Amino acid sequence: MSNPGSTVPAETRLLTADAAGIAEAAALLRAGRLVAFPTETVYGLGGDATDPNAVAAIYAAKARPSFNPLISHVPDAGAARAQGVFGEEANRLAEAFWPGPLTLVVPASAGTRVCELARAGLPSVALRVPGSEPARALLAAFGRPVAGPSANRSGRVSPTRAAHVLEDLNGRIAAVLDGGDTRVGLESTVVACLGGRARLLRPGGITRERLRDVLGYDLEGPEAADTHTPVGPGLLASHYAPNAAVRLDAMRIAPGEALMLFGDFRPEGHDAARAVVNLSEAGDATEAAARLFGALRDLDASGAATIAVAPIPSEGLGEAIRDRLGRAAAPR
Ligand code: TXA
Ligand code: MG
Repeated sequence: MSNPGSTVPAETRLLTADAAGIAEAAALLRAGRLVAFPTETVYGLGGDATDPNAVAAIYAAKARPSFNPLISHVPDAGAARAQGVFGEEANRLAEAFWPGPLTLVVPASAGTRVCELARAGLPSVALRVPGSEPARALLAAFGRPVAGPSANRSGRVSPTRAAHVLEDLNGRIAAVLDGGDTRVGLESTVVACLGGRARLLRPGGITRERLRDVLGYDLEGPEAADTHTPVGPGLLASHYAPNAAVRLDAMRIAPGEALMLFGDFRPEGHDAARAVVNLSEAGDATEAAARLFGALRDLDASGAATIAVAPIPSEGLGEAIRDRLGRAAAPR
């Protein structure tokens, strides 16, 4: 399916977490659909992490105002090592706490299949081997990393049972795999292992003390008051930033500029653009989100000094798209 966001089911199916339910959930993920699934921390809003359309649909279902990087869930440490580069510290933490409520942010491997949208354009990837049986069975059956933020609408409390998920997302996702109440009830601890000492990005299911016991030192962080936006100014700068300058809401194009379009609006002088990509001919923000990072990269590769972006409405995912483009446009 090229655009799961536009074919949201009228009603979300409730699947029992038995063999048949797990097989059905895996089939839905394979079809690019979204399935909430029980981890030991909270229910995750799962989608194929390798498919930018599915990942865009996650942001749309959550109504997230910006593209926070998402955790990719994998069935075991071996599968995690295929997606990220594990140094000494990451290996020790993985060995001590996986499966379990720990997420490791590591450099993305050269061959990572986790798409850029799931990583919010960062060169790193967040990986977790969840501890619940249904989650591990689903991940093993699906065979690809599953992107999964908590299965609530943005700004609402994380769900710890299937009914909570339905309260927020009924009709917005294909199914919920019902595994009863989650054991931990609090999100995973997020630790960055990006060289140098490991840093705590978000407190959670694994305590600081337990991390210290394994690593032998107290971790620094979290830095920001809002621990759900652990990407402080330093990290923000490493979000994908094109070489070209980015100009938003362009109503006219100078010759030689690269042009990012949305829908059927054409800025004056668009014929003189050096390269053109339309994020969504149909003006569909979910489709546009899925294409955003690839489009930035392609337009940058044209060698243009400036990427001009035609107006994109800020409704729905448009807000997140504009947020991301605004960061790409920020002076540096
Ligand atoms: O327990 C959990 O962690 C749940 C279950 C479903 O696994 N998931 C969850 O996901 O809480 P989410 O998307 O709500 O939180 C992901 C956290 C955010 O704080 C995000 O900023 C951080 O991980 N994160 C993800 N990738 C990152 C990266 N590359 N660099 C820094 N932080 C990252
Ligand atoms: Mg959350």
